[in-house]
Amino acid sequence: MDIFWTSGVFSFILKCVLCSGTATKWTYGGAVGQSEWNEFFPECGGSSQSPINVDTSEIQHDPTLIPVEPLGYNHPGKKPFILSNNGHTVQMTLPNWMGIGGLPWHYRTVQLHLHWGNGMGMATGSEHTINGQSASAELHIVHYNTEVYANISEAMTQKNGLAVLGILIEVDKEVNQAYGSIFNYLGRIRFAGQKVAIPSFDVQSLLPVNLNHYFRYNGSLTTPPCHQSVLWTIFRESVKISQSQLIKLETVLYSSQAEEEVMALQNNYRTTQPLNHRTVLSSFIPGIKVKLYTAGEIAAVVVGSLCGCIGLTVIICFIVKTIRTQGKPKEHKQDVDLKVSEPEKSKDASCSPQRET
Ligand SMILES: *[C@@H]1O[C@H](CO)[C@@H](O)[C@H](O)[C@H]1NC(C)=O
Ligand SMILES: *[C@@H]1O[C@H](CO)[C@@H](O)[C@H](O)[C@H]1NC(C)=O
Repeated sequence: MDIFWTSGVFSFILKCVLCSGTATKWTYGGAVGQSEWNEFFPECGGSSQSPINVDTSEIQHDPTLIPVEPLGYNHPGKKPFILSNNGHTVQMTLPNWMGIGGLPWHYRTVQLHLHWGNGMGMATGSEHTINGQSASAELHIVHYNTEVYANISEAMTQKNGLAVLGILIEVDKEVNQAYGSIFNYLGRIRFAGQKVAIPSFDVQSLLPVNLNHYFRYNGSLTTPPCHQSVLWTIFRESVKISQSQLIKLETVLYSSQAEEEVMALQNNYRTTQPLNHRTVLSSFIPGIKVKLYTAGEIAAVVVGSLCGCIGLTVIICFIVKTIRTQGKPKEHKQDVDLKVSEPEKSKDASCSPQRET
C-alpha cells in the first residue's frame, strides 16, 4: 500500500513537472529511467521501437538495397562545427548541404551524437546489438526527409521523416584521428548545457570503409519522445577507436549542469526493443563473410609474404649448400688429411736431413 501510494504520488509529481511544460526531464536509469519513458512519452511504448537486436539468422536479403552514399560529407566547409553537451549525449550540428543518397527519398543531415557505456572498458554501450553482442559505443548521424517535409521538427514526428546512420564503435590499438576531432574537445563541454565551436573536419572519415553492407529497418528515435519516424541503416562493419579514446568518451562528460551536484554522463544507451512484426533487411547475402582489408592489413600481408619468401629462399639455399657439402665430404676430409699430413710428412721428411745439415 505504502509503496503504491508513494509511487503514485511520485509519478503524479513527475507528470505535473511534465505537464507544466518546463519539462522533458528523462534519464536512462532511476525514477524517470527508460522503463518509465512510455508513461510520459506514449510513443516509447509503441510497437516499432529502436534500438533492436539484429539476429542475422532472421534477416532478409534485399538485392534492391544499393550502397549508402554520403553527399558532401567530405566538404566540411570553413565554418566551425558546434559541439554541445545536452545532458544526454554529446551532439554536433552538421551543415545543411550534407545529405545521404541511396535511400527512397533525399535526406539532409541535421546532427550527429553518440551513445556509450560506463567507463569500465567493457563492450557495452552501443544501442543496437548484433546477435546479442554489444559494441563499445555507437554513432548516430541524423537526417530528415527534405522531399516530403519542411523541416526537422515536422519530419521527426512523421512516417519516413528521418533517416539515421548507425555506426558501431569498437576498441582497437590505433588512435582514430577522425573521432579525435570530436573527442579532443570534450573537456570544453563537461557540463550539460555547454557548447564549443570546433574546427570543421571530414565527416565521412567517421564512417566505416564498407558502405555497401548494412542492415535496414523501420524504427524510432532511441530517446523520448521515441517517434516512430526513422528509417535505420546499421552498417555491418564497425569503426575502431583506441581504449584511451573510449575511456575519455565515457568519463569526461557530466549529465549535470555546472551548478548542480556532479553526475557522470554514462550508460546513455537504451536497451533493445521487441522487433514485433518488423523485418530486418540486409543489403548483402547473409552468411557470406566478405572482409574488407585496410591498407595496413594489406601492407602486413605483403611484408609478411616477402619475409616468408626470403626466409624460404635462405632455407633452400642452406639445404642445397648442405647437400653439396655432403656430396664432397671425402674430398674435403682427404684435403684436410692431406693439408694436415703434408706438413707433418714434410716435417718428417725435412726433419732428419735438413736439421742435420
Ligand atoms: C516546420 O514546418 C511546419 C510546417 O510547415 C511549420 O508549421 C513550423 O513552424 C516549422 N517549424 C520550424 C521550427 O521552422
Ligand atoms: C518501412 O516502411 C515503409 C512504409 O512506410 C515500407 O514501404 C518499407 O518497405 C519499410 N522498410 C523496411 C526496411 O522495412
